[in-house]
Parts: sequence; structure tokens; C-alpha cells
Amino acid sequence: MSKSIQNIPIAILISGTGSNLQAIIDAEHNLNYRVDLVISNRPDTYGIERAKKHGIKTLVIDHCNYSNREEFDEDLLNSIKKNNIEFVILAGFMRILTTNFTNHFLGKMLNVHPSLLPKYPGLNTHQKALDNKDLVHGISIHFVTAELDGGPIIKQASFNIEDNKTALDLQKSVQSLEHIHYPQVVDCLVTKKISLKNNQTLFNEL
Ligand code: GRF
Repeated sequence: MSKSIQNIPIAILISGTGSNLQAIIDAEHNLNYRVDLVISNRPDTYGIERAKKHGIKTLVIDHCNYSNREEFDEDLLNSIKKNNIEFVILAGFMRILTTNFTNHFLGKMLNVHPSLLPKYPGLNTHQKALDNKDLVHGISIHFVTAELDGGPIIKQASFNIEDNKTALDLQKSVQSLEHIHYPQVVDCLVTKKISLKNNQTLFNEL
């Protein structure tokens, strides 16, 4: 007998195109989350347009209007709280978050990173993989902690780097993997199949 699907509200934070946001929205009807709120720290992002097309509530909290990180994060936090949302999904959100923010959502916030962490935290991961003549490249989905791109890993997926590939080729392969795996991991988070304990990922028997 199939279990009924829950609609657990999530917020997605973006800064740009939002292809992961789109993948998460597209998978929603089969999974146990519901995208209730999309927040961008930049105005005029395509991700915001995508959310609007689906009738999802959107907010732009432009970081340029803030003189420090703390005040920006406080507004971000309050906006999510006001909407009664427990889970936060970073999908191409290009801001370093304060410890206050990461602690508030500890165990409730995920990020997808375009490398096989701990290799290449930060930016330009595809070029770094090429420069180092890596044979494989991939993605990491992890809990967000105060350490940038350093939270406990939940899932990784990889592919072989073939000869003469460009950074753009790698980006495309990376994003295909992200779009397959990220919605599934978000579902595991909201249904508590995964959790964070003592800075480690637990895979729970339910
Ligand atoms: C993704 O490749 C993700 O790994 C990185 O930023 C990119 C965002 O792409 N954190 P999109 O906005 O979801 O298309």
C-alpha cells in the first residue's frame, strides 16, 4: 500500500539561474516537501521568475542594501521564520552565512556543491578539476554548518572526465547529476531519513 505524500514546507535560497530550484519544484508532486518560499539575495534573477511561474511566494532580500552580514542574515532568518518554515535548501546561493544563521538551521539546511568535497570548496571547481587533470568530478550534497562547504556529506555522485572537456562541459554534467539527486535528498531531510548528530550524517532506519 502506498504511503500518502506529506507537504512539508521548505524555503529555497538562490542567487541566480535556479536550475536546481526548477528540479526541486518539478519533483515536488512525488515527494514529501512543498516549496513555499523562494528567496534571492539578488534582484532580477531567473530563479525568481521560475518560482513565480509556479505561483510560489518569492522575496528579494538584496544584500547590497545591508552594511553588514549580520543584519542581512537577521532579515533572512526572520523572513523564513515568519513563513513557519523549518527546512532551508541552498540552491546556488552565493553568500557566506553567519554562524547565527547556520546554527539556527543546523540539521535543517542543505547545500549542493559542484565538486567532490573535500576537494575544491569555494568557487571555480570545474576549472580546478581540469587544471589538476582529475579523472573524476562530481557533486556533494551536505548539511550546512558554520564551516564553508565543510558540513557533513550526505550524498556524492561522480562521472569520468573525458579528454578535451571544458569547464562548461563539466558544469553541464555536474548540473545533470544535481538535478537527479538533490530533490531526493531534500525528501530524505524532510522525512527525517537523514539527520545530523555530533557533526555526522545519520542515515536513519524508519
Ligand atoms: C549549482 O551547480 C550548484 O552546485 C552551485 O551553484 C550552481 C547553481 O546553479 N552551488 P542553479 O542556479 O541551480 O542553476
